[in-house]
Amino acid sequence: MGHFTAGTEAYARHVGRYGGALSAAHADAAGLVVGERALDVGCGPGVLLAELARRLGASQVAGVDPTEPFLAAARAAVPNADVHVGSAERLPFDADAFDVVLSQLVVNFMDDAESGVAEMQRVARRAVTSCVWDYAGEMTMLRAFWDAALELDPDAPDEGRTMPFCTPDELAALWDRAGLREVRTDALVVSAGYADFEDYWWPFTSGLGPSGAYCASLHDGARAALRDACFRRLGSPSGPFTLTARAWFVQGAV
Ligand SMILES: C[S@@+](CC[C@H](N)C(=O)[O-])C[C@H]1O[C@@H](n2cnc3c(N)ncnc32)[C@H](O)[C@@H]1O
Repeated sequence: MGHFTAGTEAYARHVGRYGGALSAAHADAAGLVVGERALDVGCGPGVLLAELARRLGASQVAGVDPTEPFLAAARAAVPNADVHVGSAERLPFDADAFDVVLSQLVVNFMDDAESGVAEMQRVARRAVTSCVWDYAGEMTMLRAFWDAALELDPDAPDEGRTMPFCTPDELAALWDRAGLREVRTDALVVSAGYADFEDYWWPFTSGLGPSGAYCASLHDGARAALRDACFRRLGSPSGPFTLTARAWFVQGAV
């Protein structure tokens, strides 16, 4: 879990910047109905958990994540939610304990996604949903970073190539293999604002996630060259700018 230990501030300014809008889009797509109970698997600092609590009530939602510093943030974000340390592959809940089980930006990080989705299905009565960034395409913040990295280093570990389950076909196949029914995929497109280029760049230097780990592994000169290449790819912005990000959504009925 080393990728996620760089802290919640770095996370909030990296992909977390898109989290509120993505959580709202994910909750809309899942078709939540008041009265349902929902579990957020890999809840991280709790942004989707908070969205679920707003829609269903905090006592109706639970979260689970293996990364302790994130759980403290999740508990603070939704004090009355049922938040546990744990992994998707072994969920600490009874069968059919929830109506809907969601995971946001998580299946691509699971050690064993087949077991994780099977467990999500075991504890769900109505539906299992997920969304994963379109790393190879229109997740612009990361795409600009990796395209710049590839320009300088053809062996850069581009998440568009290394990440599993980041296309609609792969997600649908994973859901089908778990025995989920009526599997459907969709695009969730959100956006986020940046004060300036430095606001975009700083989270990469914090070592967070695969992009931060790569950035931290470079010597100073290579990191400066990567920074310049990112700046150019974003159109050399001199002030505030907005980027869009697409995630692929999948849902299956239990
Ligand atoms: C990119 S973060 C997403 C966090 C949150 N869902 C969100 O949308 O902001 C990935 C999360 O997956 C968690 N994670 C990694 N492996 C996991 C696993 N096997 N089971 C459950 N969560 C896992 C990490 O601890 C981290 O919180």
